[in-house]
Amino acid sequence: MTLGIISAMSEELELLLTDMKLENKITKANMTFHQGKLWGKDVVAVVSGIGKVNAAVCAQILISEYKADSIINVGVAGGIGKNIYPGDVVVATDLVQHDMDTTVFGDAYGQVPRLDTFAFKCDDNLVRVALEACKEISEINTFSGRIVSGDQFISSLEKIQWFEKEFKAISCEMEGASIAHVCYLNDVPCVVIRSISDNANNGAHMDYEKFIPLGVRNSTTILKTMINKL
Ligand code: ADE
Repeated sequence: MTLGIISAMSEELELLLTDMKLENKITKANMTFHQGKLWGKDVVAVVSGIGKVNAAVCAQILISEYKADSIINVGVAGGIGKNIYPGDVVVATDLVQHDMDTTVFGDAYGQVPRLDTFAFKCDDNLVRVALEACKEISEINTFSGRIVSGDQFISSLEKIQWFEKEFKAISCEMEGASIAHVCYLNDVPCVVIRSISDNANNGAHMDYEKFIPLGVRNSTTILKTMINKL
């Protein structure tokens, strides 16, 4: 089994990389693929860069060239709603691209036109194991539900209220749905695990800078516990 692990930014992957027994390192499409053993498993870990295109290219390379049988996307995200705070962890059940808009043709916001699914579902087993890991780490508050992704850093109450109303989303970020989309097209199981760095409202960019380290610590802790169970 080869597990592909994608983070958008180097800060999100660096903690994990310190635990990795590196066997090979190759740069492709401006991304460095770290192949080796992580917590007893065969893993390819990579920083994709920010946004949906980078993440999609990265996921496809993991699938086509590294034959990844599962993909996990980890990193930070904006929390949506009153009860979700920096440091909390979200396990996605499914994901939607909030900036996909062909509503003029009668599609719902987020629908990829002419595709036979609206949301990109995470793998039931990977979600179950991730939530089992969350349960074990009782000091980290965890949620599961829909994450929305788009090529926008969200810092607006109006926008997150729209995400809640339109998509029933609990979190937003910039890559997960495109990774889940690529996995859907290739029939490869995936899960997205994100830790909250900000509440995607007015002060989001300041909270984001401040809480990235806490977020990365928490998502890496959950990921380690999860990978030990796979
Ligand atoms: N990742 C972390 N916080 C985010 C936000 N507010 N919007 C988009 N992506 C994020």
